[in-house]
Amino acid sequence: KIAACLFDLDGVLVDTARYHFLAWKKLADELGIDFTLEHNELLKGVSRMDSLDIILNIGNLQLSQEKKNALADQKNQVYLEYILQMNEEEILPGVKDFLTALRKLGVGVALGSASKNAPLILERLKIGNLFDAVIDGTKVSKAKPDPEVFLKGAEALAAKPAACIVFEDAIAGIEAARNAGMMAVGVGDPQTLSRANLVISGFRGLTPEHLFQQINEHTT
Ligand code: BG6
Ligand code: MG
Repeated sequence: KIAACLFDLDGVLVDTARYHFLAWKKLADELGIDFTLEHNELLKGVSRMDSLDIILNIGNLQLSQEKKNALADQKNQVYLEYILQMNEEEILPGVKDFLTALRKLGVGVALGSASKNAPLILERLKIGNLFDAVIDGTKVSKAKPDPEVFLKGAEALAAKPAACIVFEDAIAGIEAARNAGMMAVGVGDPQTLSRANLVISGFRGLTPEHLFQQINEHTT
């Protein structure tokens, strides 16, 4: 019996990767670093400061912590400009129906995201009311693949880890789910997310019943 479903935000419920990219790209350009879409793949699921470190590494730049804090803030200001222009239309197809169906079944729904902007994004998408718990980047001290974010989500819903399903688009997120002792559903490319129990391309047309049945077949 599935007690709870835990969702990553960026890349699972909404496609914010392109906004993160545009904001990082602007910063990288200013620093004279050649930052590409390919590089951007490395930043999925990675915290803001770790992302900056990866970019500085690409450019062979070493900066003081103070300077790095300022650059991370600068990037976030640009990112926020994009986020503030988002609306409900940017929720990925099928997500809202899937979350609503879970709630009808009495399955707990939580967010487990590394983003400190998660509450703002949920507000912009007008789906905050569909979550029983929101664990975001301000509530965790250890980044994925550490299981902290998902264990906190399960705890908030009083659900046992083994009865939880995590939905993730990043390799580190799938690992975090496994490290938490939860089932992992990858959202995206089966090859990249090969460590997941099951991989889906998205939520369009997907019902919880069908998903639960599929995951049962893949885990038993
Ligand atoms: C993750 C994203 O969800 O959140 C990363 O996949 C991002 O790309 C991270 O860096 C932190 O987000 P924020 O909004 O706190 O800078
Ligand atoms: Mg993600």
